Amino acid sequence: MKLIISALTLITAYHSFGQNPLAIPPTLTGSNIDLNLQEGSVNFYPGNATSTYGANGNLLGPTLILDKNSTVTINVTNSLMDTSTIHWHGMHVAPENDGGPHTVIPPGTTWSPVIPVMDWAATYWYHPHLHMHTNEHVQKGIAGMIIVRDNDEAALVLPRTYGVDDIPLVIQTKAFDTNNQIVVMSALDTALMVNGTIDPVATVPAQVVRFRILNGSSERVYNLGLSNNQAFYQIASDGGLLTAPVSMTRLMLAPGERAELLVDFSSQLGQAIQLMSYGAELPSAVYGATQPGMGAGQVIPNYTSNPLNGNNFIVVDFDVIAATASPITTIPASLVTHTPYLEANANATRALTFSPVNMGPTAIQGPFLINMMPFDMMMINQFVPFENTEIWTLTNNSPIAHPFHIHDVQFYVLDINGVAPPLNQKGRKDVILVPAGGSVVRFIAKFDDFYNDTLPYMYHCHMLTHEDEGMMGQFLVRSPGAGIVEEMNTNSTSIFPNPCDDFITISDVSMNEEISILDASGRLMMKQLVNDSFIKLNLTALTSGVYLIDISSLSNPRKMKFIKN
Ligand code: C2O
Ligand code: CU
Ligand code: CU
Repeated sequence: MKLIISALTLITAYHSFGQNPLAIPPTLTGSNIDLNLQEGSVNFYPGNATSTYGANGNLLGPTLILDKNSTVTINVTNSLMDTSTIHWHGMHVAPENDGGPHTVIPPGTTWSPVIPVMDWAATYWYHPHLHMHTNEHVQKGIAGMIIVRDNDEAALVLPRTYGVDDIPLVIQTKAFDTNNQIVVMSALDTALMVNGTIDPVATVPAQVVRFRILNGSSERVYNLGLSNNQAFYQIASDGGLLTAPVSMTRLMLAPGERAELLVDFSSQLGQAIQLMSYGAELPSAVYGATQPGMGAGQVIPNYTSNPLNGNNFIVVDFDVIAATASPITTIPASLVTHTPYLEANANATRALTFSPVNMGPTAIQGPFLINMMPFDMMMINQFVPFENTEIWTLTNNSPIAHPFHIHDVQFYVLDINGVAPPLNQKGRKDVILVPAGGSVVRFIAKFDDFYNDTLPYMYHCHMLTHEDEGMMGQFLVRSPGAGIVEEMNTNSTSIFPNPCDDFITISDVSMNEEISILDASGRLMMKQLVNDSFIKLNLTALTSGVYLIDISSLSNPRKMKFIKN
């Protein structure tokens, strides 16, 4: 491994002498979009070509431009030798259109979700989501940007000429072996690329330019800033424009997150300015910092020898050229109106705790679990009543920050360790970096528009190594009324006594099924994993009333009502 590292370092050094024009992904738009997942090859380095995956090409995929309130059919044909899936990250779509690990596309087949576009104007993305292979398929090259446009955004004076003053930047790092092949392994990601271009240089006009930035990396957090330290303005977070542009000189962007930035290059004609990642300034316990854990001794194998860790490096080199014919020259004073969900209106709260499987110095190497449970395709971890407004509390009891992502919804961050989030994180989000060492992040979201009693949505860490190792869970948004009143599917499972006092026994259940007890309004009261063919639950903590027993299982979900005296 040592040998590979030194070879990688040499290659990186060699290549920094040459610059390559930044590739701009082509666009696709309209009501019918075809994506073909295919194998390809790219000449990243002298010598052997690199085997890659791409959508409609050798690497990455086209940028999809969608209009809010339109309907788009996306035909995803899988021409790989391997099963895959395509997930529309950040978009509010029905479970059957979400492209999670249950919605596989076998080789040689086409999946054609029909998607009503309901999202706010913002930057979303698509990537494979195959069970235990998300990292591999993304690292090999499948990922693309999605731009949603809407009337609110169109009414603002903003740059929006794609590739000219509205520039997509998909930032990724990859690991290569000595034969120039992509290695899917933690911490070896020494090669930085933007839109698939290594050492990219781009021309930008001397005016206000919009950058749509996606951190499409599997593990790395960036700390973006400009080499001349000039301020830039964040105008959008993951799922929409902010209330107003936020002036900043640094932006931390975690895997899966997107940000739209405005940079005013008006007075920089003829200059070269770099978009940098100031890795040396990253706080400890973030992947990319000098110290990935909370203390010395918490090490990830190969991490320290990776020259990107703890160092400042160039992301893209910009050459400022003459302005375009009718340039945007101002930063808007305000953007869009937000009406965040009120904490007082929440119907339920849920707690997710992140913890390492190993304790001690190797805790940082993972795997990591959510609520002590590894991801299981057959286990539903959360049942969310349709149209619930919920507060989710994320507690990170591990020594590294995890970017938490949830499907289906955009959320508002309520607080991070009890403090309101910074202005640029006050908008719609679908990824939030949860700091290490017992930190707590609370968010609020509403689970409206879609439900499905058998097909779940995912929530997970967007460090793809962590996700693939099991740091993921799944939730069902239940059909209206599924809470307690509709027909019960009990099969052979029985409960006794009913009504009960302090104990209830549920018989004919199976190992590893999960029993949830919900109250009459669908609030989750208890959860218990089955480790026998029956289970006896202690209900002393419940007040008297009607409750629902919900037994999770994709093949045989069961619900039963009981009364506690
Ligand atoms: Cu970007 Cu569940 O994924
Ligand atoms: Cu997603
Ligand atoms: Cu993680």
